[in-house]
Amino acid sequence: MTQEELFKVLVAHCKEYGFIFPSSEIYDGLAAVYDYGQMGVELKNNIKQYWWNAMTRLNENIVGIDSCIFMHPRIWEASGHVGAFNDPLIDNKDSKKRYRADVLIEDYLGKIEEKIAKEVAKGRKRFGDSFDEAQFRATNPNVLREQAKYDEVHARYVKAEQASDFAEYRQIIIDCGIVCPISGTCNWTDVRQFNLMFSTSMGSTSEGANTIYLRPETAQGIFVNYLNVQKTGRMKLPFGIAQIGKAFRNEIVARQFIFRMREFEQMEMQFFIKPGTELEWFKNWKEKRMAWHVNLGMGAENYRFHDHEKLAHYANAATDIEFQFPFGFKELEGIHSRTDFDLGNHQKFSGKKIQYFDPETGESFVPYVIETSIGVDRTVLAVLSHAYKEERLEGGDTRVVLSIPPALAPVKAAVMPLVKKDGLPEVAQQIMDDLKYDFNCQYDEKDSIGKRYRRQDAIGTPYCITVDHDTLEDRCVTVRDRDTMTQERIPIAELRAMIDRRVNLNTLLRNL
Ligand code: GAP
Repeated sequence: MTQEELFKVLVAHCKEYGFIFPSSEIYDGLAAVYDYGQMGVELKNNIKQYWWNAMTRLNENIVGIDSCIFMHPRIWEASGHVGAFNDPLIDNKDSKKRYRADVLIEDYLGKIEEKIAKEVAKGRKRFGDSFDEAQFRATNPNVLREQAKYDEVHARYVKAEQASDFAEYRQIIIDCGIVCPISGTCNWTDVRQFNLMFSTSMGSTSEGANTIYLRPETAQGIFVNYLNVQKTGRMKLPFGIAQIGKAFRNEIVARQFIFRMREFEQMEMQFFIKPGTELEWFKNWKEKRMAWHVNLGMGAENYRFHDHEKLAHYANAATDIEFQFPFGFKELEGIHSRTDFDLGNHQKFSGKKIQYFDPETGESFVPYVIETSIGVDRTVLAVLSHAYKEERLEGGDTRVVLSIPPALAPVKAAVMPLVKKDGLPEVAQQIMDDLKYDFNCQYDEKDSIGKRYRRQDAIGTPYCITVDHDTLEDRCVTVRDRDTMTQERIPIAELRAMIDRRVNLNTLLRNL
């Protein structure tokens, strides 16, 4: 199966098993808006808990808040979103479809990278153990040709991006022969700027109504509460404020499922520090955040840093943590050194003094900020796309299994009586009643045991617990492991401790 096919299958799987549904589906859906079903919400909550506890419990100097989606409209002027939160859009005149010009170019570059990777993989297969990748890349004519093409387009793109030269974006698209996937033509309009914020009005009369925005990031809710938290929490620099919440962006290119949505959730943390210490803290947070990701056990090779070549005017360092999604390495989290831009501007626009008094030096100053910002939905997609596997079993059977990290799995254990009679359901129900305070469990007595195992594999349940006739005698149950499919006989009295060892979020947190 190609990665593209795998992605389609994954989207269908998410719907079939109650993870993610298209929003408003009975009205034919709403573009780039998705609802989480009964499994999806559990997975999402576990991810949020892993992040929240890693931030607020493992760091004594980080506290959390929950600010509102609606905020004073001047906030978005101060933050620069009214003036500059734009994407470069381009229309195809034949299909009338709209695209992001930068994304068209990045996708083109991504395809060249894929071609190079395929050549390298072919070389590795051909030469086996004696394969020298560096030498192959430096000498293979196909790789050299593609690399030269990549380097040329990439250099033009970076220059155009730095100069915000939109005419050059269009020229790159035309020179590279990038066509609209719908019409197949290169008949493009000029590139224009498009503001991504959704607006609405607040107030009961049209005269008195104010235009307000749905927040495009949660970060500003943290900045405008800086003084409140610092004073009421008696916080001393360095300290952080964390928040999880919804954000809204009128994305031009809404595709790739929950990767780019118009309503999504962010987990953001602003770390306030003394000016001059920002590059040291930036490095520190880069390492900490990468460790948080890798700790999930989805393979360190599936993550990489992508340092920004073009820095926003307020940033003096920025990087993305990228994950290998089925459609290539893409941004999962951003880490930015934002200087005193946000607090300084809120001080200017609100007229309120937003400063930190350092008792050691007797000085007052506007703190600098390191921001870590990760999408909940993109993390869900990373977990699901890595977890989805179609396995061929001995005897020719196949199974679909989601090998979700156990601490994040929506259901931790399924309890199943072998048959629906002879007192087995009652024992299974007692086990459920005992486990349900510690873990999200499912009771299932329908269909053959094999079918029940398959259903649990498909939602990523780490353990299936079967109650059989022997259980009535020996008070033991059969526990089947999702990943190895091995079965073990375990005393009922030991079940809770056994499950806990593998699925407890604290075990994951302790490894950080
Ligand atoms: N406060 C900084 C900020 O918002 P960002 O890079 O625009 O930075 C941070 O967004 C993270 O939010 C991204 O790395 C991504 O995980 C997530 N994100 C951004 N736009 C998104 C969208 N349209 N759909 C889903 N997730 C999104």
